[in-house]
Amino acid sequence: MPKVEFLNAGKTIECGQYANLRKVALLHGVEVYKPIHKLPPPIGNCRGNGLCGFCVMEIVEGLENLNPKTLREQFKLKGKPANYRLSCQCQVLGDMACITAVALTDEPVAAAKT
Ligand code: FES
Repeated sequence: MPKVEFLNAGKTIECGQYANLRKVALLHGVEVYKPIHKLPPPIGNCRGNGLCGFCVMEIVEGLENLNPKTLREQFKLKGKPANYRLSCQCQVLGDMACITAVALTDEPVAAAKT
């Protein structure tokens, strides 16, 4: 079973293969959104539909263990580092480590792979 390490939350969680990254975090009490983005649409997040971009995570390790970027991610994350992903669009296929939006600043922690 893949292990997902949420670095800023200090939690490592085992999940099933193909599990949705956003749901893994939410089910285990890991904050996915900044406080203002916890609100419902249209002000807050889109509840996992790949439209708002507020569930972004920086993948520090294991980027290769996620599904390829969806079209919604390619649109929403245009110009962002390659290791930024919308967690609601990600299927976990293997071990990985990430930083949630709560702790993200403008500067990525890990060097982005192109
Ligand atoms: S929850 Fe809105 S893009 Fe992921």
